[in-house]
Amino acid sequence: MLIELKTIEKININKFQRDLIAWFKQEQRDLPWRKDQDPYKVWVSEIMLQQTRVDTVIPYFNRFIEWFPTIESLADADEDKVLKAWEGLGYYSRVRNLQSAVKEVKEKYMGKVPNTPDEIAKLKGVGPYTAGAILSIAYGLPEPAVDGNVMRVLSRILSIWEDIAKPSSRKVFEKAVRELISHEEPSEFNQALMELGALVCTPTSPSCLLCPVRDHCQAFSEGVQNDLPVKTKKNKQRVIELATVVLTDDSGKFLIHKRPDNGLLANLWECPNIEIHHPMQTEREKIADLFMDSHHLDIEIEKAIGQIEHVFSHLVWNIKVYTGKIRTFHQPGNGEWKLASLEEMENYAFPVPYQKVFKMYKEKNERH
Ligand code: ADE
Repeated sequence: MLIELKTIEKININKFQRDLIAWFKQEQRDLPWRKDQDPYKVWVSEIMLQQTRVDTVIPYFNRFIEWFPTIESLADADEDKVLKAWEGLGYYSRVRNLQSAVKEVKEKYMGKVPNTPDEIAKLKGVGPYTAGAILSIAYGLPEPAVDGNVMRVLSRILSIWEDIAKPSSRKVFEKAVRELISHEEPSEFNQALMELGALVCTPTSPSCLLCPVRDHCQAFSEGVQNDLPVKTKKNKQRVIELATVVLTDDSGKFLIHKRPDNGLLANLWECPNIEIHHPMQTEREKIADLFMDSHHLDIEIEKAIGQIEHVFSHLVWNIKVYTGKIRTFHQPGNGEWKLASLEEMENYAFPVPYQKVFKMYKEKNERH
Protein backbone atom coordinates (compact mmCIF):
# COMPACT_ATOMS: atom_id res chain seq x y z
CA MET A 1 0.00 0.00 0.00
CA LEU A 2 1.24 3.45 -0.85
CA ILE A 3 1.33 6.06 1.86
CA GLU A 4 -0.69 9.19 1.23
CA LEU A 5 1.53 12.13 0.45
CA LYS A 6 -0.15 14.97 2.27
CA THR A 7 2.90 17.16 1.85
CA ILE A 8 2.40 17.41 -1.90
CA GLU A 9 -0.70 19.52 -1.31
CA LYS A 10 1.47 22.25 0.14
CA ILE A 11 3.31 22.67 -3.16
CA ASN A 12 2.29 25.16 -5.81
CA ILE A 13 2.99 22.70 -8.60
CA ASN A 14 3.02 25.18 -11.50
CA LYS A 15 5.39 27.52 -9.74
CA PHE A 16 7.60 24.64 -8.64
CA GLN A 17 7.88 23.38 -12.24
CA ARG A 18 8.64 26.87 -13.55
CA ASP A 19 11.34 27.60 -10.94
CA LEU A 20 12.98 24.21 -11.38
CA ILE A 21 12.96 24.18 -15.19
CA ALA A 22 14.09 27.81 -15.55
CA TRP A 23 17.06 27.06 -13.31
CA PHE A 24 17.89 23.93 -15.32
CA LYS A 25 17.83 25.81 -18.63
CA GLN A 26 20.21 28.37 -17.19
CA GLU A 27 22.59 26.20 -15.21
CA GLN A 28 22.68 22.76 -16.82
CA ARG A 29 26.08 21.28 -17.53
CA ASP A 30 27.18 20.84 -21.10
CA LEU A 31 27.20 17.04 -21.26
CA PRO A 32 27.83 14.96 -24.39
CA TRP A 33 24.57 13.01 -24.11
CA ARG A 34 22.61 16.26 -24.05
CA LYS A 35 23.66 17.19 -27.61
CA ASP A 36 20.67 15.42 -29.16
CA GLN A 37 17.73 13.26 -28.12
CA ASP A 38 18.78 10.08 -29.90
CA PRO A 39 17.10 7.36 -27.76
CA TYR A 40 20.07 5.04 -28.24
CA LYS A 41 22.51 7.63 -26.85
CA VAL A 42 20.19 8.50 -23.99
CA TRP A 43 19.96 4.80 -23.21
CA VAL A 44 23.74 4.26 -23.25
CA SER A 45 24.32 7.31 -21.06
CA GLU A 46 21.69 6.32 -18.51
CA ILE A 47 23.09 2.80 -18.20
CA MET A 48 26.61 4.20 -17.73
CA LEU A 49 25.41 6.75 -15.18
CA GLN A 50 23.93 4.09 -12.92
CA GLN A 51 26.43 3.66 -10.08
CA THR A 52 29.01 5.86 -11.83
CA ARG A 53 29.80 9.55 -11.57
CA VAL A 54 29.25 11.98 -14.45
CA ASP A 55 32.96 12.96 -14.65
CA THR A 56 33.98 9.32 -14.98
CA VAL A 57 31.29 8.56 -17.54
CA ILE A 58 32.04 11.39 -20.03
CA PRO A 59 35.17 9.89 -21.71
CA TYR A 60 33.67 6.40 -21.66
CA PHE A 61 30.47 7.67 -23.28
CA ASN A 62 32.33 9.51 -26.03
CA ARG A 63 34.48 6.51 -26.88
CA PHE A 64 31.55 4.11 -26.72
CA ILE A 65 29.54 6.18 -29.19
CA GLU A 66 32.61 6.50 -31.43
CA TRP A 67 33.07 2.71 -31.45
CA PHE A 68 29.37 1.85 -31.61
CA PRO A 69 27.51 4.85 -33.07
CA THR A 70 24.23 3.05 -33.74
CA ILE A 71 22.00 0.27 -32.42
CA GLU A 72 23.07 -1.82 -35.38
CA SER A 73 26.79 -1.41 -34.72
CA LEU A 74 26.45 -2.38 -31.04
CA ALA A 75 24.17 -5.32 -31.84
CA ASP A 76 26.74 -6.70 -34.31
CA ALA A 77 29.87 -5.97 -32.24
CA ASP A 78 32.21 -8.61 -30.87
CA GLU A 79 31.62 -9.07 -27.13
CA ASP A 80 35.31 -8.75 -26.23
CA LYS A 81 35.33 -5.31 -27.88
CA VAL A 82 32.16 -4.27 -26.06
CA LEU A 83 33.64 -5.33 -22.72
CA LYS A 84 36.86 -3.48 -23.63
CA ALA A 85 34.81 -0.30 -24.12
CA TRP A 86 33.43 -0.76 -20.60
CA GLU A 87 36.76 -1.77 -19.01
CA GLY A 88 37.13 0.00 -15.67
CA LEU A 89 33.50 1.16 -15.37
CA GLY A 90 32.46 -1.83 -13.25
CA TYR A 91 29.11 -3.60 -13.01
CA TYR A 92 29.79 -5.28 -16.33
CA SER A 93 26.41 -7.02 -16.47
CA ARG A 94 25.12 -3.55 -17.41
CA VAL A 95 26.86 -3.68 -20.77
CA ARG A 96 26.15 -7.34 -21.44
CA ASN A 97 22.46 -6.66 -20.84
CA LEU A 98 22.65 -3.53 -22.97
CA GLN A 99 24.06 -5.48 -25.90
CA SER A 100 21.40 -8.24 -25.56
CA ALA A 101 18.66 -5.62 -25.40
CA VAL A 102 20.05 -3.75 -28.39
CA LYS A 103 20.06 -7.01 -30.37
CA GLU A 104 16.40 -7.43 -29.47
CA VAL A 105 15.64 -3.87 -30.60
CA LYS A 106 17.40 -4.54 -33.89
CA GLU A 107 15.47 -7.75 -34.54
CA LYS A 108 12.07 -7.09 -33.03
CA TYR A 109 11.65 -3.32 -33.49
CA MET A 110 13.61 -2.77 -36.71
CA GLY A 111 16.36 -0.97 -34.84
CA LYS A 112 14.08 1.65 -33.27
CA VAL A 113 14.01 1.89 -29.45
CA PRO A 114 10.36 1.32 -28.46
CA ASN A 115 8.49 4.27 -27.01
CA THR A 116 5.88 2.63 -24.82
CA PRO A 117 6.40 1.85 -21.12
CA ASP A 118 5.39 -1.80 -21.59
CA GLU A 119 7.70 -2.56 -24.48
CA ILE A 120 10.67 -0.65 -23.16
CA ALA A 121 10.44 -2.17 -19.67
CA LYS A 122 10.69 -5.67 -21.19
CA LEU A 123 14.18 -5.00 -22.56
CA LYS A 124 17.01 -6.67 -20.67
CA GLY A 125 18.61 -4.40 -18.07
CA VAL A 126 16.01 -1.66 -18.51
CA GLY A 127 14.45 -1.12 -15.10
CA PRO A 128 11.86 1.50 -14.17
CA TYR A 129 14.49 4.25 -13.83
CA THR A 130 16.06 3.70 -17.25
CA ALA A 131 12.66 3.23 -18.90
CA GLY A 132 11.45 6.53 -17.44
CA ALA A 133 14.65 8.34 -18.40
CA ILE A 134 14.49 7.21 -22.04
CA LEU A 135 10.75 7.84 -22.35
CA SER A 136 10.97 11.33 -20.91
CA ILE A 137 14.33 12.53 -22.28
CA ALA A 138 14.20 10.97 -25.75
CA TYR A 139 10.44 10.79 -26.35
CA GLY A 140 9.09 13.64 -24.23
CA LEU A 141 6.66 11.49 -22.25
CA PRO A 142 5.71 12.47 -18.66
CA GLU A 143 7.12 9.33 -17.01
CA PRO A 144 9.01 9.31 -13.69
CA ALA A 145 12.75 8.51 -13.68
CA VAL A 146 13.52 7.92 -10.03
CA ASP A 147 17.02 6.96 -8.91
CA GLY A 148 18.80 7.52 -5.61
CA ASN A 149 19.56 11.16 -6.41
CA VAL A 150 15.98 11.98 -7.29
CA MET A 151 14.79 10.25 -4.11
CA ARG A 152 17.19 12.38 -2.07
CA VAL A 153 15.94 15.61 -3.67
CA LEU A 154 12.27 14.73 -3.31
CA SER A 155 12.63 13.37 0.21
CA ARG A 156 13.73 16.89 1.16
CA ILE A 157 11.29 18.90 -0.92
CA LEU A 158 8.30 16.85 0.21
CA SER A 159 9.63 15.79 3.63
CA ILE A 160 9.36 12.05 2.88
CA TRP A 161 10.78 9.88 5.65
CA GLU A 162 10.65 6.50 3.88
CA ASP A 163 13.93 4.55 3.95
CA ILE A 164 15.32 5.07 0.44
CA ALA A 165 17.51 1.96 0.79
CA LYS A 166 14.34 -0.16 0.68
CA PRO A 167 13.39 -1.11 -2.92
CA SER A 168 9.70 -0.61 -2.12
CA SER A 169 10.25 3.10 -1.41
CA ARG A 170 10.81 3.95 -5.08
CA LYS A 171 7.08 3.64 -5.74
CA VAL A 172 6.31 6.43 -3.26
CA PHE A 173 8.64 8.76 -5.12
CA GLU A 174 7.33 7.71 -8.54
CA LYS A 175 3.86 8.60 -7.41
CA ALA A 176 5.11 12.01 -6.29
CA VAL A 177 6.80 12.61 -9.65
CA ARG A 178 3.61 11.67 -11.52
CA GLU A 179 1.89 14.48 -9.66
CA LEU A 180 4.67 17.01 -9.98
CA ILE A 181 6.04 16.44 -13.49
CA SER A 182 5.54 19.04 -16.20
CA HIS A 183 3.52 17.61 -19.10
CA GLU A 184 4.88 20.30 -21.41
CA GLU A 185 8.55 19.69 -20.57
CA PRO A 186 8.96 16.29 -18.95
CA SER A 187 12.51 15.86 -20.24
CA GLU A 188 13.65 19.14 -18.70
CA PHE A 189 11.74 18.41 -15.50
CA ASN A 190 13.36 15.00 -14.91
CA GLN A 191 16.82 16.19 -15.89
CA ALA A 192 16.41 19.22 -13.65
CA LEU A 193 15.75 16.96 -10.65
CA MET A 194 18.90 14.98 -11.52
CA GLU A 195 20.92 18.15 -12.02
CA LEU A 196 19.68 19.64 -8.76
CA GLY A 197 20.74 16.45 -6.95
CA ALA A 198 24.18 16.62 -8.54
CA LEU A 199 24.89 20.34 -8.16
CA VAL A 200 22.88 21.70 -5.23
CA CYS A 201 20.91 19.15 -3.24
CA THR A 202 23.98 17.00 -2.58
CA PRO A 203 24.13 14.10 -0.09
CA THR A 204 26.03 15.97 2.61
CA SER A 205 25.75 19.71 3.24
CA PRO A 206 23.25 20.67 0.52
CA SER A 207 23.68 24.23 -0.79
CA CYS A 208 20.21 25.43 0.19
CA LEU A 209 21.13 29.08 -0.20
CA LEU A 210 21.70 28.51 -3.93
CA CYS A 211 18.65 26.33 -4.42
CA PRO A 212 16.12 27.46 -7.03
CA VAL A 213 13.27 25.61 -5.27
CA ARG A 214 14.16 26.47 -1.69
CA ASP A 215 10.84 28.28 -1.25
CA HIS A 216 9.05 25.01 -2.03
CA CYS A 217 11.25 22.84 0.17
CA GLN A 218 9.63 21.47 3.30
CA ALA A 219 12.87 20.07 4.74
CA PHE A 220 14.47 23.52 4.45
CA SER A 221 11.53 25.26 6.04
CA GLU A 222 11.67 22.81 8.96
CA GLY A 223 15.50 22.86 9.10
CA VAL A 224 15.77 19.08 8.62
CA GLN A 225 17.55 18.99 5.25
CA ASN A 226 20.58 17.30 6.84
CA ASP A 227 18.43 14.53 8.36
CA LEU A 228 16.98 13.54 5.01
CA PRO A 229 16.95 11.21 3.18
CA VAL A 230 16.56 8.31 5.58
CA LYS A 231 18.91 5.65 4.28
CA THR A 232 19.82 2.55 6.28
CA LYS A 233 23.33 1.18 5.96
CA LYS A 234 23.85 -1.95 3.92
CA ASN A 235 25.43 -5.08 5.35
CA LYS A 236 29.19 -5.36 5.52
CA GLN A 237 30.87 -6.94 2.52
CA ARG A 238 32.24 -10.47 2.68
CA VAL A 239 36.05 -10.65 2.35
CA ILE A 240 37.59 -13.16 -0.06
CA GLU A 241 41.33 -13.92 0.06
CA LEU A 242 42.91 -14.63 -3.32
CA ALA A 243 46.38 -15.40 -4.62
CA THR A 244 47.14 -14.46 -8.19
CA VAL A 245 50.26 -15.09 -10.23
CA VAL A 246 51.58 -13.00 -13.11
CA LEU A 247 52.75 -16.02 -15.08
CA THR A 248 55.12 -15.80 -18.01
CA ASP A 249 56.44 -18.44 -20.38
CA ASP A 250 59.96 -18.64 -21.88
CA SER A 251 59.09 -16.12 -24.60
CA GLY A 252 57.81 -13.58 -22.06
CA LYS A 253 54.12 -14.02 -22.91
CA PHE A 254 51.57 -13.82 -20.11
CA LEU A 255 49.06 -16.51 -19.28
CA ILE A 256 45.55 -15.08 -18.97
CA HIS A 257 42.20 -16.67 -18.24
CA LYS A 258 38.66 -15.75 -19.28
CA ARG A 259 36.19 -15.79 -16.41
CA PRO A 260 33.03 -17.91 -16.77
CA ASP A 261 30.14 -16.49 -18.75
CA ASN A 262 28.00 -15.89 -15.68
CA GLY A 263 28.44 -14.44 -12.22
CA LEU A 264 30.81 -11.73 -11.04
CA LEU A 265 32.85 -10.05 -13.84
CA ALA A 266 31.56 -12.61 -16.35
CA ASN A 267 33.65 -13.01 -19.54
CA LEU A 268 36.33 -10.58 -18.39
CA TRP A 269 39.98 -11.63 -18.37
CA GLU A 270 42.26 -12.11 -15.37
CA CYS A 271 45.56 -13.57 -14.23
CA PRO A 272 45.30 -17.14 -13.02
CA ASN A 273 44.27 -17.13 -9.37
CA ILE A 274 43.02 -19.28 -6.56
CA GLU A 275 41.01 -18.67 -3.45
CA ILE A 276 42.98 -18.94 -0.20
CA HIS A 277 41.26 -20.46 2.81
CA HIS A 278 44.15 -20.56 5.24
CA PRO A 279 47.20 -18.26 5.78
CA MET A 280 49.55 -21.25 5.37
CA GLN A 281 48.38 -21.60 1.81
CA THR A 282 50.25 -18.43 0.87
CA GLU A 283 53.60 -20.27 1.08
CA ARG A 284 55.06 -20.42 -2.40
CA GLU A 285 55.12 -24.22 -2.77
CA LYS A 286 51.57 -24.47 -1.45
CA ILE A 287 50.37 -22.03 -4.06
CA ALA A 288 52.05 -23.96 -6.86
CA ASP A 289 50.32 -27.12 -5.55
CA LEU A 290 46.95 -25.38 -5.46
CA PHE A 291 47.43 -24.20 -9.06
CA MET A 292 48.11 -27.80 -10.06
CA ASP A 293 45.02 -29.04 -8.18
CA SER A 294 42.63 -26.34 -9.34
CA HIS A 295 43.85 -25.50 -12.83
CA HIS A 296 46.24 -28.36 -13.78
CA LEU A 297 48.93 -25.74 -14.28
CA ASP A 298 52.55 -26.71 -13.68
CA ILE A 299 54.12 -23.50 -12.37
CA GLU A 300 56.93 -22.21 -10.22
CA ILE A 301 56.31 -19.23 -7.96
CA GLU A 302 59.14 -16.66 -7.99
CA LYS A 303 58.21 -14.02 -5.45
CA ALA A 304 55.43 -12.09 -3.78
CA ILE A 305 55.27 -8.52 -5.13
CA GLY A 306 52.42 -6.98 -3.18
CA GLN A 307 48.84 -6.95 -2.07
CA ILE A 308 45.76 -5.41 -3.68
CA GLU A 309 42.39 -4.69 -2.14
CA HIS A 310 39.36 -4.22 -4.35
CA VAL A 311 35.99 -3.33 -2.90
CA PHE A 312 32.84 -4.40 -4.77
CA SER A 313 29.36 -3.43 -3.63
CA HIS A 314 28.84 -6.79 -1.89
CA LEU A 315 32.33 -8.20 -1.35
CA VAL A 316 36.00 -7.37 -0.97
CA TRP A 317 38.86 -9.08 -2.74
CA ASN A 318 42.18 -9.22 -0.91
CA ILE A 319 44.62 -10.31 -3.58
CA LYS A 320 48.17 -11.39 -2.84
CA VAL A 321 50.20 -10.95 -6.02
CA TYR A 322 53.07 -13.20 -7.10
CA THR A 323 55.23 -13.59 -10.15
CA GLY A 324 55.95 -17.00 -11.58
CA LYS A 325 57.02 -19.11 -14.54
CA ILE A 326 55.10 -21.72 -16.42
CA ARG A 327 57.07 -24.97 -16.37
CA THR A 328 55.16 -26.84 -19.04
CA PHE A 329 52.04 -25.47 -20.62
CA HIS A 330 49.16 -27.29 -22.13
CA GLN A 331 45.63 -25.86 -22.24
CA PRO A 332 43.97 -26.68 -18.94
CA GLY A 333 40.72 -28.55 -19.63
CA ASN A 334 38.38 -26.05 -18.05
CA GLY A 335 37.72 -22.52 -19.32
CA GLU A 336 39.48 -20.38 -21.88
CA TRP A 337 43.20 -19.61 -21.48
CA LYS A 338 45.58 -17.63 -23.68
CA LEU A 339 49.25 -16.81 -23.84
CA ALA A 340 49.37 -13.15 -24.81
CA SER A 341 52.04 -10.51 -25.29
CA LEU A 342 51.58 -7.13 -23.59
CA GLU A 343 50.45 -5.75 -26.94
CA GLU A 344 47.89 -8.52 -27.50
CA MET A 345 46.48 -7.97 -24.04
CA GLU A 346 45.29 -4.53 -25.18
CA ASN A 347 42.41 -6.30 -26.93
CA TYR A 348 41.04 -7.93 -23.82
CA ALA A 349 39.08 -6.37 -20.99
CA PHE A 350 40.52 -6.78 -17.51
CA PRO A 351 38.62 -5.69 -14.40
CA VAL A 352 40.24 -2.92 -12.35
CA PRO A 353 41.85 -5.22 -9.73
CA TYR A 354 43.78 -7.01 -12.50
CA GLN A 355 44.75 -3.73 -14.14
CA LYS A 356 46.27 -2.90 -10.75
CA VAL A 357 48.05 -6.28 -10.73
CA PHE A 358 49.73 -5.54 -14.08
CA LYS A 359 50.59 -2.01 -13.01
CA MET A 360 52.26 -3.37 -9.89
CA TYR A 361 54.13 -5.96 -11.98
CA LYS A 362 55.42 -3.31 -14.43
CA GLU A 363 56.53 -0.99 -11.63
CA LYS A 364 58.45 -3.75 -9.86
CA ASN A 365 60.08 -4.82 -13.15
CA GLU A 366 61.15 -1.30 -14.05
CA ARG A 367 62.85 -0.85 -10.70
CA HIS A 368 64.94 -4.00 -11.01
N1 ADE B 1 22.48 11.03 -13.73
C1 ADE B 1 21.66 10.11 -14.24
N2 ADE B 1 21.19 10.50 -15.43
C2 ADE B 1 21.75 11.70 -15.69
C3 ADE B 1 21.67 12.60 -16.76
N3 ADE B 1 20.93 12.34 -17.82
N4 ADE B 1 22.37 13.74 -16.68
C4 ADE B 1 23.13 13.97 -15.59
N5 ADE B 1 23.24 13.18 -14.56
C5 ADE B 1 22.56 12.04 -14.60
